Amino acid sequence: MATAVADQIGAVASSGRSDRPAAPLLVYFSSVSGNTAHFIEKLGMRAIRIPLRPTESMPVIDEPYVLVTPTYGGGQGRGEEKGAVPKQVIRFLNGEDNRRLIRGVISAGNTNFGEAYCLAGDIVSRKCRVPHLYRLELFGTPEDVERISEGLERWWKQY
Ligand SMILES: Cc1cc2nc3c(=O)[nH]c(=O)nc-3n(C[C@H](O)[C@H](O)[C@H](O)COP(=O)(O)O)c2cc1C
Repeated sequence: MATAVADQIGAVASSGRSDRPAAPLLVYFSSVSGNTAHFIEKLGMRAIRIPLRPTESMPVIDEPYVLVTPTYGGGQGRGEEKGAVPKQVIRFLNGEDNRRLIRGVISAGNTNFGEAYCLAGDIVSRKCRVPHLYRLELFGTPEDVERISEGLERWWKQY
C-alpha cells in the first residue's frame, strides 16, 4: 500500500498556466527486474524512461515532471546516502535542466529493507527540495495505482 509521505496538496503555489496537461509528466528509472516500469505501465500516464545503461543518451526534459525511482543499496552503501539512489538517476539529475524541472518524487522499494525502505525518495527530496509524494512497494498494488494517479492529478491541478 502506498503511503502519502506528506500532504502536499495545495502546498505549492499555482503556476497560473491554462494550457498544461491534466497530469504531470513522469520520468522514471527501472532496473532489469522492471518493477517500476510495470508500475508506470499500470498508471498509464505520460512517462519517459531513464536508460538502464550509461552508454545510452540521457533524456533532457523541457517541462515540469515528477521523478519515480526505485531504491537500491540495501541501506549498506557508503556515505550518508548509502548508494540508495540509482546511479543513472543521479546522472539524470546532474543535468541542469532536468534538476531545475523536477517538481516531486515518488519512490519504490521493499519493506524488507527496514529503515532503508524507499530511502532514494527521501534523498532526492532533500537534495532537490521537492516533496516526496508517495512510497510504494515493488510494482504497487491496484490500490496504489488508483491512489497515486488520483493524488497526482489532484496535486497537479492545485500546483
Ligand atoms: C540489490 C538490491 C538492493 C535493494 N535495496 C533496497 C533498499 O535499500 N531499500 C528499499 O526500499 N528497497 C530496496 N530494494 C528493492 C527495490 O527497490 C525494489 O525491488 C524495486 O521494486 C526495484 O525496482 P525496479 O525493478 O524497477 O528496478 C533493493 C533491491 C535489490 C535487488
